[in-house]
Order: sequence, then C-alpha cells, then structure tokens
Amino acid sequence: MQETAAAFAEELGHEHASLLKQLEELETMTAGSTVSAAGVLIESLRAVRAALHRHFLFEEKGGYMNHVLANAPQLHRRTEELLAEHTHIGRSVEELIGNAAAASPGAPISAEVCEQVRQWVKLVRGHEAGENKLVMEACCGDIGEED
Ligand SMILES: [Fe+2]
Ligand SMILES: [Fe+2]
Repeated sequence: MQETAAAFAEELGHEHASLLKQLEELETMTAGSTVSAAGVLIESLRAVRAALHRHFLFEEKGGYMNHVLANAPQLHRRTEELLAEHTHIGRSVEELIGNAAAASPGAPISAEVCEQVRQWVKLVRGHEAGENKLVMEACCGDIGEED
C-alpha cells in the first residue's frame, strides 16, 4: 500500500510539473501588458482548461483522496477542502474564457483580464502546492499533525 501511494505521489508530481509549465506560459503571456490577440489567450486558456479537466479526473478517480485517507485519516478535512477547490477553479477558468472572448478576435485583451488571468494562475498554483504537501505528508511518511 505504501509503495502504491508513493508511486501515486510521484505520478501526481509529474502531472503538476506539466500543469505548472502551462500556467507559467499563461503568466508570461499576460505579464506586464495586454496580450496583442484575444485568440491566442483564449486558445491557451482552453488548453489549460482541458488539461485541468483531465488532471482533476485523475485526482478524483485515481484517488489521491483514497491514498491520503488510507494513510492519514487525520488529513481528511484538508483533503475535502482541496477537492472542493476543483469546482471553483473550473468555474473561474470558464469565466476567464468568457471575459477574454468578449474582445474581438485579434483585438488586445484588456489589462483587467490579464490581471484576472494572473490571479487565477496564482490560485491554481496554490492549489497544486497544497496537494503536493498533503500527499507528501500522507504518502511518504511526513506525518501532518493538523485536522
Ligand atoms: Fe487538484
Ligand atoms: Fe493537482
């Protein structure tokens, strides 16, 4: 069981690394100024949305929850909170795509939408970092004391 959990933690780490790369690209694209073409940003947001959708399914069905709860039932509350964030992250990327799509294709995206994208990237990064910490605590012997 411990071995399976460690393998899962490793796979999760790879998934997060690939996701973080996409987030970094979004951040670079919207850093400092408006992006020149709405279509480019929308395409990137849609790609991240698809990647997140697959990633959330992996976490929910593959079950980091199962691994966490089997190894560290005391982390139950934090696990539930992180899983609940998936809904919020999914909804907010839809909103971002809607806001970006409000600009005409080829038109610049507003500074406000760029800022919303950067804030969203921050939110997702925080979520993934929280999961890494949780899974390490539960699966790899770094026992958490809370919950
Ligand atoms: Fe997650
Ligand atoms: Fe994740």
